[in-house]
Amino acid sequence: MAQVASHFKLNTGASIPAVGLGTWRSEPGEVRGAVSFALKEGYRHIDAALIYGNEHEVGQGIKDSGVPRNEIFLTSKLWNTHQPNVKEGLERSLKALDTEYLDLYLIHWPVRLVPNESSELLPVNPDGTRSIDREWDQSETWRQMEEVYESGKVKAIGVANWSIPYLEALSKTWKVVPAVNQVELHPFLPQHQLWEYCAKHGILLEAYSPLGSAGAPIMSDESIQDVAKKYDVSPATILISYHVNKGVVVLPKSVHEKRIVSNKTVVELSKEDVTLLDGLAAQGKAKRINTPLWGWDLGFDDWYSPVAISG
Ligand SMILES: NC(=O)c1ccc[n+]([C@@H]2O[C@H](COP(=O)([O-])OP(=O)(O)OC[C@H]3O[C@@H](n4cnc5c(N)ncnc54)[C@H](OP(=O)(O)O)[C@@H]3O)[C@@H](O)[C@H]2O)c1
Repeated sequence: MAQVASHFKLNTGASIPAVGLGTWRSEPGEVRGAVSFALKEGYRHIDAALIYGNEHEVGQGIKDSGVPRNEIFLTSKLWNTHQPNVKEGLERSLKALDTEYLDLYLIHWPVRLVPNESSELLPVNPDGTRSIDREWDQSETWRQMEEVYESGKVKAIGVANWSIPYLEALSKTWKVVPAVNQVELHPFLPQHQLWEYCAKHGILLEAYSPLGSAGAPIMSDESIQDVAKKYDVSPATILISYHVNKGVVVLPKSVHEKRIVSNKTVVELSKEDVTLLDGLAAQGKAKRINTPLWGWDLGFDDWYSPVAISG
């Protein structure tokens, strides 16, 4: 079988491994071993975030692996409560991960949450709604991201969960074009227009929740299983390979050794099969899985959640 890309290029010129290990909901006690095992098995890309609450263990896993830090592509994300002070958020992640620098630092959501006595990282108002500052100017957060980029403590900066209208608004003031936009992407949420927009602006897309997040629900879809049979691989391999075949980085999460090993397998798909997978959402299977209460008005055209609107 022909080879598909193992790495892509960022607009900084740096190389990024096409498959990275996700760490969201990788529990304390599990994630250290998962990260160390993955690195020993050849992964060179780890996707972390302050809000995952496990960066300390991710850092330990990196050390345990014995793989030199400069051979690893390490991403972390600025949490929503740290938007007014990017340096502070970054320092916290660097300390927890026990590293001098990040290869990529992302704004986790284009949303500022205002900490209060209810919670430091996930604050709510007295009526139970999220404590969100909708007036906060994202271009100010990006300006501070540009500052930490200039400091050298992060080798690239980018965003996560940014729709086209949000990117367009940011483009009016950005000096540094985001290297990456990390969003939910899979055949049920292919985001074709965002794919085109990012390609046009040299922003590399990264696919999160490629298997449908907890429990990997997309793997059981009949069409995905049919394609998997055709290539004699698992449905997970098809869902992971789909992105790499489209020039998109993919971040499957697992804490199980067998899955960690098999999730780095990428197969080349025919154009017809990529088109088939691209078309599933339009055939009535469209579904967004990650819908936090601050997400509903972020300009994604598929987003509709009456429950979320109340939050
Ligand atoms: N920027 C953001 O806002 C954002 C949001 C969501 C996710 N992310 C990033 O993207 C990563 C991936 O997304 P995700 O964690 O939501 O979900 P995912 O990778 O789509 O799916 C993870 C789930 O699939 C299971 N799984 C993994 N490989 C499997 C396999 N080969 N066969 C069967 N089941 C398998 C995992 O279980 P086990 O662990 O038990 O194997 C887990 O339950 C995250 O970990 C995080 O790093 C970013």
